[in-house]
Amino acid sequence: MASCWLVWLTMLGFVAQGLAIMCYECNSATNSYCAEKILPDNLKRNCSERDRGDIVHTLCRKITQHVDVEVEGQRPGARVVRTCGWDDSKYKSSCYHRSGFGSRHEVCACAADLCNSAPAAAAGATVALAAAAILKLG
Ligand SMILES: *[C@@H]1O[C@H](CO)[C@@H](O)[C@H](O)[C@H]1NC(C)=O
Repeated sequence: MASCWLVWLTMLGFVAQGLAIMCYECNSATNSYCAEKILPDNLKRNCSERDRGDIVHTLCRKITQHVDVEVEGQRPGARVVRTCGWDDSKYKSSCYHRSGFGSRHEVCACAADLCNSAPAAAAGATVALAAAAILKLG
């Protein structure tokens, strides 16, 4: 019985954490550290500070932009943008590609604290592992 409570409390804690997600927030166009594998602490953002009315941030996003042709002042090259994200249930823990004139975007979303640092595949695996651990506990 006591262990039941423990599992329940652990799950509650997990859910509560999921509501106030932490993500990296930066743009390599203005901060070259943003493109690094290991990101400095000052890029961490409590995404609940970004919540507005109906918009509750529950995801982190990493956007990799490849600009091939200079358009609207965007210089050619690769750029990394990391942000807090919301909604996007169909893209959860996955990536999608978008192409426009002279540029390509890869947008990845994930749902764990600071998961937009690592490559998205690794972040997805982390979420799966956490879920597996919880199932095993139950
Ligand atoms: C983020 O901010 C919310 C609301 O201000 C707070 O409840 C939560 O504890 C914060 N989370 C972290 C990890 O600082």
